[in-house]
Parts: sequence; C-alpha cells; structure tokens
Amino acid sequence: MLKAIILAAGAGTRMKSKKPKVLHEVCGISMIEHVLRASESAGVSDSVVVIGHQAEAVRQELSGRNLKFALQLERLGTGHAAMQATGKMPDQGTVLVLCGDTTLVRGETLAGLIRHHNEEKNSVTVLTASLDEPFGYGRIIKDCEGNLLGIVEEKDADEDERAIKEINSGMYCFDAASLKESLKDLENGNSQGEYYLTDTVGILRGLGKRAGTYEIEDPLEILGVNNRVQLSTAEQTMKSRINTRHMLSGVTIMSPADTTIGIDVKIEPDTVVFPGSQLKGATSIGPDCEIGPYAILENAKVGAGTAIRQSTVVDSSVGKDAKIGPYAYLRPGSIIENNVKLGDFVEVKNSTVGEGSKASHLAYIGDADIGKRVNISCGVVFVNYDGKNKHRTKVGDDVFIGCNVNLVAPVIVNNKAYVAAGTTVTEAVPEGALCIGRSRQENKEKWVERKWSAEYNADK
Ligand code: UD1
Ligand code: CA
Repeated sequence: MLKAIILAAGAGTRMKSKKPKVLHEVCGISMIEHVLRASESAGVSDSVVVIGHQAEAVRQELSGRNLKFALQLERLGTGHAAMQATGKMPDQGTVLVLCGDTTLVRGETLAGLIRHHNEEKNSVTVLTASLDEPFGYGRIIKDCEGNLLGIVEEKDADEDERAIKEINSGMYCFDAASLKESLKDLENGNSQGEYYLTDTVGILRGLGKRAGTYEIEDPLEILGVNNRVQLSTAEQTMKSRINTRHMLSGVTIMSPADTTIGIDVKIEPDTVVFPGSQLKGATSIGPDCEIGPYAILENAKVGAGTAIRQSTVVDSSVGKDAKIGPYAYLRPGSIIENNVKLGDFVEVKNSTVGEGSKASHLAYIGDADIGKRVNISCGVVFVNYDGKNKHRTKVGDDVFIGCNVNLVAPVIVNNKAYVAAGTTVTEAVPEGALCIGRSRQENKEKWVERKWSAEYNADK
C-alpha cells in the first residue's frame, strides 16, 4: 500500500503571479500534475494534496483526478502541512512525501527511493542530492560512518554545516506509522518559528529507528520551481526529455531546441518534425508525416504520410497523405479526409472535407459538408452566418466550385454540379447542372478614347 502526501499550500510569492504556483504549466501540464504522474508511475495509488494558498483554484484544477485534499489554513511549515494530511492516511504502509513544485522528478527515481527504503527497512529515507552550490537547501548531517543523523535548514545551520554539499530534496519515503508518531513531537523553536518536516528525521533517530538517504544521480531532478527563471529551466529540461524520447523511438526532430512537444503528444516513427513547430494537448501523428516548419497542432489527429507546413490545426483531424498549408488554419471540428489538399490562406471550421478534395488557395470553408473529389477554387466563401445564426452548406461528390463563388447557407450543391466563377449561390444546384449567377459582360467599344477626348475638349 503506497500513498503520497503532496505539499502544495505555499504561496509561491516569487512567481509574481495571480495563478497558484503549482498550476503553472511545464510542457503542457501543470507542475503538480507532473509530480502526481511521477508518483503514480512509482506505484502510488492514493494521494492527499495539502492545499492552502488559493486552495480552491488548485482543488478545481485537479477535480478530474481521484485525490483527497487537506486544507492547511495557516502556513506554519512543512511539518505542519504534513500533519494536516496524516489524518486522511492509513496507519500502515509506506508514504511518499513530495512537493507540488518539483516538476522534474522522475517516476524511476521515486521507485528507486521506495526500493531502497524497503531494502534498508528504514522508518524514513530522504531523497538527497550533492550540489556544488547547496545554498538555501537543508543540509544532510551524517556521522563519520555515514549514518544519517538529521537535517539542518540553511537558516539554522552553523558554518561547518553550511559547508556540507549533500542537501535535502524535500522528498521522502516514510513508514506511515513512524511519520504520524514523529509529527506529534515536532516543535517550532527554530529561526523561522515553523514546524519543520525535516525534524522528523532526528526525532525518529532518537526513538531508535532507522533513517537513511537515497542520493539522486541527476541533481536537476530535485529542482523546486520558485520563480519564472526556474520555470523556464524546468520547461527546457522537460522539453529535451520529451524530444529525446521521440527521437529514440524513430521520429526525426530537425532542431530539438526549436521544437516544443507536449508531454501527451504521440508521434509514430519516420515522421519528421521541422523547426518552430509546437505540438500540444492530445495531438497524435501517424508515421511518415512531415510536420512544420512552424506548424501549431493542438489536439490534432493526423494520419500517415500527411504534410502540414506553417499551419495551425486545432481540435481537428486530418487523414492520410493530405497536404496542408503553408498558411492554412483548421479550426475546431474540422474533419479532413485522406488525400485532401488545403493550400495557403484556406480556413476551415466545423466542416468535413471529403477524400481527394482540394482548396488550393484563399478560401473560407465554415459549417460545410463537402464530398469527395471536389474542387474549391480561389476566393470561395462558404457564407455560413446571417448575423444571428450559423447555417450549413452541403456539397456533393465531384463538384467544381469556380473562383470567387459565395455559397449562402443553408444551401446544397448536388453531385457533379459546376458553379461558375463569380456566382452567388442561394438555391439548391441540381446534380450535374451548371449554376451561373452573374450579370452579363458588356464591352463598350472605343469608350476610353471617347472619354478622354471629351474631357480634353471641355478643358479648352
Ligand atoms: C524545504 C526543506 C529543505 C529542503 C527544501 C527542498 C523544510 C523545513 N525544509 O525547504 O530542507 O532542502 O524544501 O526544496 O521542510 N508548504 C506547505 N505549507 C507550509 C510550508 C510549505 O504546504 O506551511 C509546501 C510548499 O508549498 C512547498 C513545500 O511545502 O511545496 C516546501 O516548502 P518551502 O517553503 O519551499 O520549503 P523550503 O524552505 O524550500
Ligand atoms: Ca522550496
């Protein structure tokens, strides 16, 4: 039975934000979500999140998850925060105590901590790191045989203690009963007048229990994000991890530094991602695609062999072997079937574009159901809005829509019909018909010559 307590009641003042610190995002999900995922992948089945500062916002954001919350009304320290949670915890088993802002900790690291904790039969195991610049962190105090004696906070440390490089990550593995027992004995007689969770280590030692450390290999994993500079460090590190994962599974990323891929994005092998692309949310991309440069895909589903250049696709799907862009904009609800071509300055919204259809340039397709092999020429507008309501347009298979056509919805153009350039369609077009609705052309012979000679005569 593995549980976790996640401390997230602090104000996060240094973020200088109206948003609670732990809700700031790193690679598309909140910092606390990263911590929850790491703990889950280490086997945690149940978590209590300690909330305080902007408690409701944090609770709201995490409402889709099966979590318990403990409210810490006053910020009296990390030990006090943990006390609020232990009431909602069973007395037996193992408890991880984590912070909501240590975004970069890996599931494998927490799993290693737990394994070591169990092997050593410890009451508490502290996740530590050795830093060249340990300033600000609690220092790990050990005896000459390397046994853990306790943790001293920077503000309470003497000169010798401050010279210690091994620091407390703020993440721990506890025996549940020992945690509860030691929290009862916490006092706040320190320089900050706080109940320090770190003091539980010395208390458990005093009770004759085993306490130990588990040192992390990559110190970056313990980075607690306190300000926007550290937020960007977390973002860069996470981004590089995600890009590396995709590259190692067969995706070419031309310029990883200029490519942002959200943590939940899926990409199949032999797809190439060109620089400047941002792939977000629940986007999934099939094999052999070419994405970018400068493609923005958010919750997009893309089939095999499709190319999406300098274009934006939001909440939409694109089939196989399609060509999108440059400069196309696919807004929510667009379903683009296989082999479709949408070129520059084509905007599609809440519409289906059937297999093999083309809109090569400058068109607006809104609220339309378009069949197969339809040609939509330059300047076509699906007139879907009457100032109050949106209406749909239906276009059958093998239809040709000429340049500068307006299709005023609701309207239908049946299979194999042609609509002549410049036509405004307001009534149904029958199957196989030519629809032409424009005034006839008239040529006035020698009109220019007459005009200028008249003006010349008037001037005289
Ligand atoms: C803490 C540790 C320190 C460690 C460091 C690692 C203590 C006393 N010190 O120090 O040894 O090196 O983390 O980053 O634990 N929180 C609450 N309620 C509170 C106070 C804090 O929920 O009353 C939460 C914060 O939101 C944060 C976490 O606990 O997520 C850590 O608190 P913080 O104030 O950052 O602790 P540090 O002083 O950095
Ligand atoms: Ca901190």
